[in-house]
Amino acid sequence: MIYFDNASTSHPKAPGVPGAVRDILERGSFNINRGSYSGAYEISALVFEAREKIAALFDCPDARRVVFTGGLTHSLNMALKGLLRPGDQAVTTQMEHNAVIRPLAQLEAQGVRVDFARSGPDGRLDLADLESKITGRTRLVVMSQASNVCGVIMPVREVGAICRGRGALLVVDSAQSAGVLPVSMSRDNIDVLAFSGHKGLLAPQGVGGLVLSQEIADEMVPLLAGGTGSHSHRAEMPAELPDRLEAGTLNIPGIAALSVALDYIAKTGLDKIYAREMALLNRLADGLRAIPGVRVAGPENSADKCAVAALDFPALDNALVAARLDEEYGIMTRCGLHCAPSAHKTLGTFPRGLVRSSLGHKNTEAEVDEFLRALRQITGGS
Ligand SMILES: Cc1ncc(COP(=O)(O)O)c(C=O)c1O
Repeated sequence: MIYFDNASTSHPKAPGVPGAVRDILERGSFNINRGSYSGAYEISALVFEAREKIAALFDCPDARRVVFTGGLTHSLNMALKGLLRPGDQAVTTQMEHNAVIRPLAQLEAQGVRVDFARSGPDGRLDLADLESKITGRTRLVVMSQASNVCGVIMPVREVGAICRGRGALLVVDSAQSAGVLPVSMSRDNIDVLAFSGHKGLLAPQGVGGLVLSQEIADEMVPLLAGGTGSHSHRAEMPAELPDRLEAGTLNIPGIAALSVALDYIAKTGLDKIYAREMALLNRLADGLRAIPGVRVAGPENSADKCAVAALDFPALDNALVAARLDEEYGIMTRCGLHCAPSAHKTLGTFPRGLVRSSLGHKNTEAEVDEFLRALRQITGGS
């Protein structure tokens, strides 16, 4: 079997991840902040170390500003619903995932104004259009660092500079970039960074989080209220971070595994992971150019995208191509709209969708070659 669906969730996970989940469950997946025994203190230390590793990865100076959640969708709902109020304006892009679009649609129904910055037919953001959408009422700009549909990399740093100059906050969805591309809260002027554990961070599903600037952490209204194991005598959520934004029991096995995965990423190096993915993507792109019946959506140049090749087969049914890849060749891709209908409208592939092949640094040249061979056969070449 060949796994080319890493944009959905990575596989394999980092070495040590399955063992870390098992180990914590066997040793005692105790709750933090709740037990007055050494096992619980050990787990508190483990969770704090994971916060420190996330803070280091995203260049945030204070690990208390790392808040764990159940995943990126949870994180974005927290950020958008915790910051936007009726009368505010939010600016986003046409390339966003429904994890951004749907919370914004709910907020729009409550009186938040939402504007979409244009992208070209290759998904590249029109920066001038985004800037023109920012007004005195703009509370925040929310955008992904890379598209999950065609991989196009978004100019986060440039948008961060615009936001800083215009008094708007920048909320970044790092689903497709964390663990591959460098992200810096301070250098890129990011106020809120939402991350997912199970994609490029190579950890299990069910863990993600937010990294926040201090000012935003104090302002954000918690989406959830509940037990934190601290200040239990009060009906209000505690003022301190991360407790203020972390109601309920955390996914301790997931966080323990994330911590191991973050060690692996730090040891391997983002530059090496990125270089390996680009080498595979370039090999794939070269091979695709020689197959007449396939069109690649998104930017031409691999340097402008993460390791995604989103394929359109004008003479075939894209869904059938994906089904044949799976059934006849054991190659796992993802067909359809990828939870991002507006991105597909921008790319001109709505409603038929695309066959997305998304590579990870553990894929091999032989797998890329086998994929190309399968495509040649399916499109009627050799
Ligand atoms: C760009 C982007 N944002 C958000 C999400 C949502 O992540 P999750 O399903 O882990 O909450 C995804 C998942 O595919 C994504 O690709």
